[in-house]
Amino acid sequence: MAKPRSTKSLSADLVVVANRLPVKRVENDNGDLEWRTSPGGLVASLAPAIAEFNGVAWLGWTGEDTTRTVAPFVLDGMQLVPVRLSEAERELHYEGMSNGTLWPLYHDKVQPGEFHRHWYEGYRSINRRFADAAAKVASEGAMVWVHDYQLQLVPDMLRELRPDLKIGFFLHIPFPSPELFSQLPWRRALTSGLLGADLVGFQSPSDANNFHRLAIGLGLATRTSRSGLDVDGRAVTVRSFPIGIDFQRYDEAANDHAVTEAAQDLRAQLGQPHTVMLGVDRLDYTKGIDVRLRAFKELLADELLHPSQVSMIQIAEPSRDQVDAYVSLRERVERLVGEINGDFGRVGYPVVHYIHRTRSFEELLAMYRAADVMLVTPFRDGMNLVAKEYVAARVDESGVLVLSEFAGAAHQLKDALLVNPYDIDGVKNAILRAVEMGPDEARRRMRAMRRLVKKNDAVSWAAGFLNTLRSI
Ligand code: G6P
Repeated sequence: MAKPRSTKSLSADLVVVANRLPVKRVENDNGDLEWRTSPGGLVASLAPAIAEFNGVAWLGWTGEDTTRTVAPFVLDGMQLVPVRLSEAERELHYEGMSNGTLWPLYHDKVQPGEFHRHWYEGYRSINRRFADAAAKVASEGAMVWVHDYQLQLVPDMLRELRPDLKIGFFLHIPFPSPELFSQLPWRRALTSGLLGADLVGFQSPSDANNFHRLAIGLGLATRTSRSGLDVDGRAVTVRSFPIGIDFQRYDEAANDHAVTEAAQDLRAQLGQPHTVMLGVDRLDYTKGIDVRLRAFKELLADELLHPSQVSMIQIAEPSRDQVDAYVSLRERVERLVGEINGDFGRVGYPVVHYIHRTRSFEELLAMYRAADVMLVTPFRDGMNLVAKEYVAARVDESGVLVLSEFAGAAHQLKDALLVNPYDIDGVKNAILRAVEMGPDEARRRMRAMRRLVKKNDAVSWAAGFLNTLRSI
């Protein structure tokens, strides 16, 4: 890994603007803190693009509360520009408007959101800070790619500052129906914010269509085509670009000897040769963790599954634990896990193995390889990359994916067992079908899904977006 070095005069032909920087500060062998790029994710999909551009910069929050500006630095060929966020600002922008208002509303109000004027003011001032920073870094005529719901006002703010730029925006989460979105007191400003971009990208065609209808309905744009809008004489393209994963990285690592052994160890630890079911999620109320636990509990109570023949591993990665709804979700999930183990576990043999910690890449892969059935049951999800990761890790083409039809991934992974997470009997039936599925059917389905995840990988997603933006 390249040693980080500070950089004085920045100028980039491609500027990525995202709420978080793709780095973490970790302790090195000498006990000093240094920045390391988080492998995988968005940064991996941009790797080939880095070579094409004359300088790539990434602007984002470090995840640490800072009142002072942290100097930009270069890491792995990319200029990283930290945007400061104090604790008070974080409460308004991140926990407040982003995750207390927009997140629940965009996920079909699975939880009621709160609307607060001071949250919005905080959100606007942080969006202004990101826009100002991007305007300083971008070279003449550069492409700027803004990401996600935390930064929706940036495209328009940036266009005012720098009309020479080509601006793209991609929303990683779902975009709600115009009827739901219209509850927002700031609906016009947030829509105009996005319309500042030349290209607005979404995960699925229905998300793109919702935004297209909204912009016209609010009278902020006129229709030029199914994916085209006219905004005061300027063309804006609205399209879907379903995000992918770094298939090769998962495929290769899953074949690794150490991972294969770890998967075998895990199965041995679980006891009898039996069915292992797995859930891997951020501990978020949109993910339907409670749904699959309830379905599992009822199947055990109905004696359709037997505790000596089946077990479930649930990884629940800690997330946004300063937001009330996440605190109560944790209580709910942990109570259910306790009930299931209390009712059906034996000494040394719990039926649900619940892990409320972040697991390493290798540990996750071993779990993907050990699991016969993967349960992905969100009430609503932009894409759900875990579903794709499981598929990429199933190098022997076995394993069954149970997938919510309300995850963006369901538009692509039609060979999964699709379920409605609001229909608990439907989820129970799908789990039983997955447990009982014969190897030939499972292989046929998995093979088809692997082809699709491989073809539509992260690199092709990023290239698709950037090439479209370039050609506009
Ligand atoms: C979703 C969002 C991302 C966000 C991630 C983790 O995938 O689309 O923008 O970074 O969740 O959430 P966090 O709040 O920890 O950044």
